[in-house]
Amino acid sequence: MEIRWLGHSCFELSEGDARVIIDPFLKPNSPTAPVTADEVDPTHILLSHGHADHLADAVGLATRTGAPCVAIVELAKWLDARGVAQTHDPNLGGVVEFDWGWVKLVQAFHTNTTPSGEEGHEPFSAETGTSIGVPAGLVVEIGGVTVYHAGDTCLFGDMKLIAERTPIDVACLPIGGHYTMGVDDAAYACGLIGAETVLPMHYDTFPAIEADAEDFKRRVESSTSSRVVVLKPGGVHAA
Ligand code: NI
Ligand code: MN
Repeated sequence: MEIRWLGHSCFELSEGDARVIIDPFLKPNSPTAPVTADEVDPTHILLSHGHADHLADAVGLATRTGAPCVAIVELAKWLDARGVAQTHDPNLGGVVEFDWGWVKLVQAFHTNTTPSGEEGHEPFSAETGTSIGVPAGLVVEIGGVTVYHAGDTCLFGDMKLIAERTPIDVACLPIGGHYTMGVDDAAYACGLIGAETVLPMHYDTFPAIEADAEDFKRRVESSTSSRVVVLKPGGVHAA
């Protein structure tokens, strides 16, 4: 199974004919993405929450490719209303199965709004956007590899429980701070999760979330048994 980081929290998981994209936020919406939405061809799309930096390219990609989308129920209904042909709408704890494996929605501590899509509207506002309940993290099993994509979240103790229920091979964790946990808390999270490999995400996309990924790597590898792989946008990790 191959994991390609497309910048920010966007990853493409590839196994056989399956290309699963998580949180599509691509060029030019994302300042760090190496590709546009026309340069990827997902078979499936998974979403952690409705913030624009995770969702911006979801509707366009899904309508062009016909890829089904998995998102928490309110966000799935929002996608339905915007013309996405096939959605799966679990809530927290729900599992959706595919021929390549499965995805389970797990807890994340953050907020969740969807953009109105109107010019000039602030997408993170609950006034011009829409507040739609809770966000999620994603546990994905594909090609016999278990990936925990934590979504946007602060540190919480039940990351340990999530990993007890499904031992994690690869954890994708936000380290940028300000909107999510930062380097210090994310390094602590690695001790709770016990993944073989950790891929940092959600940093250096914007000035507010600049972080030192090499410092994160040093801290994690000196205090836990996890190995941190710092990818560049476009970089691939073979799991
Ligand atoms: Ni967010
Ligand atoms: Mn975010």
